[in-house]
Amino acid sequence: MKLWGGNYSADPDAAFWEFNRSFPFDRRLLAEEIAASKAWVRALGHCGAIPVEDAESLDRGLDVVFEKSLKEPGYCELDVEDVHSFVEERLGEIVGDLAGQAHLGRSRNEQTVTALRLWIRGTIDRLHAGLGALVHALVEQGRAGAEAVMPGFTHTRAAEPITFGHLAAAHAWALVRDDQRLRDARARVNVLPLGSGALAGVVLELDREAMAKELGFDSISPNALDAVMDRDFAVEFVSACAQLQTHLARLAEDLIHFAGPEHGFVDLPEAFTTGSSLMPQKKNPDALELVRGKAARVDGDLLRLLALLKGLPAGYQKDLQEDKEAVFDAADAVNGSVAVMVGVVAGLSLRRDAMRAAAGQEEMMAAGLAVALAREGMPFRKAHGIVGSLVAEAQRSGRSLRETASTELTELSPAVAQRLDALFDPLEAVSAKSLPGGTAPDAVRASLDAALEALGR
Ligand code: ARG
Repeated sequence: MKLWGGNYSADPDAAFWEFNRSFPFDRRLLAEEIAASKAWVRALGHCGAIPVEDAESLDRGLDVVFEKSLKEPGYCELDVEDVHSFVEERLGEIVGDLAGQAHLGRSRNEQTVTALRLWIRGTIDRLHAGLGALVHALVEQGRAGAEAVMPGFTHTRAAEPITFGHLAAAHAWALVRDDQRLRDARARVNVLPLGSGALAGVVLELDREAMAKELGFDSISPNALDAVMDRDFAVEFVSACAQLQTHLARLAEDLIHFAGPEHGFVDLPEAFTTGSSLMPQKKNPDALELVRGKAARVDGDLLRLLALLKGLPAGYQKDLQEDKEAVFDAADAVNGSVAVMVGVVAGLSLRRDAMRAAAGQEEMMAAGLAVALAREGMPFRKAHGIVGSLVAEAQRSGRSLRETASTELTELSPAVAQRLDALFDPLEAVSAKSLPGGTAPDAVRASLDAALEALGR
């Protein structure tokens, strides 16, 4: 069951055979390997390298292999080297020796990258759908919370009031960029290597453009040697996955934090939490913690690929077989995480009262007060100093900042002293930040709409 061995006197060492096999993991490329093989045998028929009837038999035989792989339990349990060997072996059971013609002029060096490119392309397209659902869920929650005031934080300290919609839009935009990055990467993934041979090209007069068209590739690779050694497309995909997983992890961290007892700004959907085996009161945010934890895994996959490629000479080397598991692992992590996050975000309930109460912390209005003083003509640096001393005075005296400001500013800036009600109202404070990109409810709604538009749906 090997695609080689004519020049060998005996079988490989048993332990090495297991070590060498990629079928346990590259079987995930079966659908793609069969699609590429169908395009190949048709191209062989078209250029007259094999009779058209033979090409048709091979084409049909490949369909049968695929159908059986879906239907027959155990059909894929075969002690073959890789997915390419599997297809040829099973094809032989259907069309006999003719199966050997499916490999005419073709090298596994080009097959493995062709199948991997197709697989990554399909994964990017599925991720596009998943990211669309997640951005939609964030936009829905953001619209629902466009006027829900809450504290915004810097350095994990309450900084200025924002709206929940502003926070949701921030996370949505990061994911929109991930979607764009994946779509950019797709253009470089979607290139056909077939027709490269082992490294030097092929003597047959194959129509590479027609094969590309049939497989939905945008273009053909421009150099056979580059085509078999290039894994940039895999690095780019996993790199985009790493950034995406980082964004998911940051969203997860925010939700863990804001759903926690010290804030209670949101309630997580129970279906995405788990209990404790010891402490009956617990509902732990495991889904979110796993999403955060999986960022380490995807970062590791990226490093694994980069390290794999460094220092390889031109051409195919068996090292390259190590590329696939990193790609699959990263894809599984992001696909799983996106699916879970859609459920978590869609199922969040906002606790507006808790947000509103926390948004009333008066010290968050200090910057707004300084700006108001400066707009009455006081140099901003001086206003900053005065408000700073009001904060210190309030802390010292135990009075509220609002009261302290009322006493101290009556003489210093009567106009501002009269507007203290508005300046200390968190909803007024956020509404005033109405520039594009700001936290005012209308600006937030516009930003949420633009995020959906950028997604192209
Ligand atoms: N299983 C191999 C891989 O994943 C396929 C290519 C093998 N080519 C070869 N000349 N041994 O990279």
